[in-house]
Amino acid sequence: MKPRASMLLALVAILCGWGAARAEEFPREAYSNPVAGLDAASEDMFYRGRVEFLRSWAFPPGGGEASGLGPLFNRISCAACHQKSGRGQPPSGPNERMSSMLVRLSIPGEGPHGAPKPHPSYGGQLNEEGAPGVPGEGRAAISWEETSATLADGSVAPLRRPRIKFVELAYGPIDDALVSPRVAPAVFGDGLLESVPAETLKRIAAEQPARGVHGVMNEVYDVISGRMVPGRFGWKANSPNLKQQIAEAFIGDLGVTTPLFPDDQCAELQPACRAATKSKNQPELPADRLDDIDFFNAHLAAPPRRDADNPAVVQGETLFLAAGCGVCHVPSLRTEAHPKFSQTLPAQTIAPYTDLLLHDMGEGLSDDRPDFRASGRQWRTPPLWGVGLVPIVNEHSLFLHDGRARSLEEAILWHGGEGEAAKTAYAALTKDEREALLAFLRSL
Ligand code: HEC
Ligand code: HEC
Repeated sequence: MKPRASMLLALVAILCGWGAARAEEFPREAYSNPVAGLDAASEDMFYRGRVEFLRSWAFPPGGGEASGLGPLFNRISCAACHQKSGRGQPPSGPNERMSSMLVRLSIPGEGPHGAPKPHPSYGGQLNEEGAPGVPGEGRAAISWEETSATLADGSVAPLRRPRIKFVELAYGPIDDALVSPRVAPAVFGDGLLESVPAETLKRIAAEQPARGVHGVMNEVYDVISGRMVPGRFGWKANSPNLKQQIAEAFIGDLGVTTPLFPDDQCAELQPACRAATKSKNQPELPADRLDDIDFFNAHLAAPPRRDADNPAVVQGETLFLAAGCGVCHVPSLRTEAHPKFSQTLPAQTIAPYTDLLLHDMGEGLSDDRPDFRASGRQWRTPPLWGVGLVPIVNEHSLFLHDGRARSLEEAILWHGGEGEAAKTAYAALTKDEREALLAFLRSL
């Protein structure tokens, strides 16, 4: 072998070895990696988008390209809630502030295009913080009410459910509002979920009744096409696509305007908000930077599975399917090439463990707040890929839309409504079988 060729090989070996070591050395970054195979230009765009995701915004008129925070907002960056592109958690009690979750608000009736009707004084979500001269709206104090579930073998599992009380309200009472506390979900794999054809979701919905489950697609307003389209993102599939979801987060959670939502959203009865200083940048996040962050979010890879050959995991997978979990948490879906990023997100088979459909999960999980076509009891099946890494990436093991479940087992035991039969099947397992099923979930 010529010396140059062998040097090249050695270099390739070092680089490959380094790459493999990197994934193991930095397990907390498991949700932060780009999909494989990006060329240099695409990688540049991914990392430019990541800068936007991590960026801390500033109050206008200062802040340069980060100018535009507020007038009302929840956090100063996307990553504050979606830490390490992962999920948030609820406070442990009423004296702790919400740090990575938010509370959606509305009043009975429908807003434009069937959206929830914003509260006249507080809008569509509680914004705890305000820019100078604009009082933050107040705080949602969460306290936990203990309950429990009894399994078939007589063992008792403690459960808890949240109670929300509004305190320090700056704009009058919130009486009679419909209230939905939601933790930030993980954001990896979303470009692939966006590439699952709506036809596939319709076919799954049509096949489910024979298996005792009735998934439905949410239907939400797409501001880009001006049409009602299937919902895909959010705990109630209340957002149609990644770009709009991101723009909604900028305006709703940070108060940053984009080409999709060019105006600050001040509630009807909030003059201080309307009078607040505007950024010189209009919109505050311009189109090219919104494209960068859209590209970043679309290309965050789902982490690979671990321990798939472990006998307990293999047994757990069989039990998962036998209990009917896979009817909603669909193990395998075929995507088509991404509508915008066909080169970098080509058609492929993915293992997200979701059907992206809404299911009636019973009274115990209901928030009593409709969201487009979703009723209070209906939630989108959350993807289970990556769920085993939550304790490592986010250093907690809190699950479900409001983070009430303190373990994967508690999450299962909250399943009611269409999920009741699967929960009962889980509760009827022996301790070893339950442990195997949980080991399977931890391998995802
Ligand atoms: C205050 C906490 C908070 C902040 C800040 C925040 N998010 Fe979120 N994010 C959430 C919550 C809660 C949801 C679920 C929303 C729902 O169900 O209505 C969500 C949902 C999402 C989703 C959809 C994930 C899925 O698979 O359903 C994406 C993508 C996302 N956010 C991106 C962003 C971006 C980009 C930013 C910054 C502009 C951001 N978020 C800022 C809390 C936050
Ligand atoms: C009828 C459809 C359906 C079935 C069947 C079902 N699930 Fe779920 N699952 C859901 C929905 C919807 C949620 C979200 C509920 C919420 O957040 O309030 C969920 C949430 C979860 C979560 C928490 C995920 C997260 O991101 O917080 C886990 C874990 C889970 N399910 C596991 C299971 C297991 C294990 C089974 C079988 C024993 C099962 N599910 C059966 C629909 C279903």
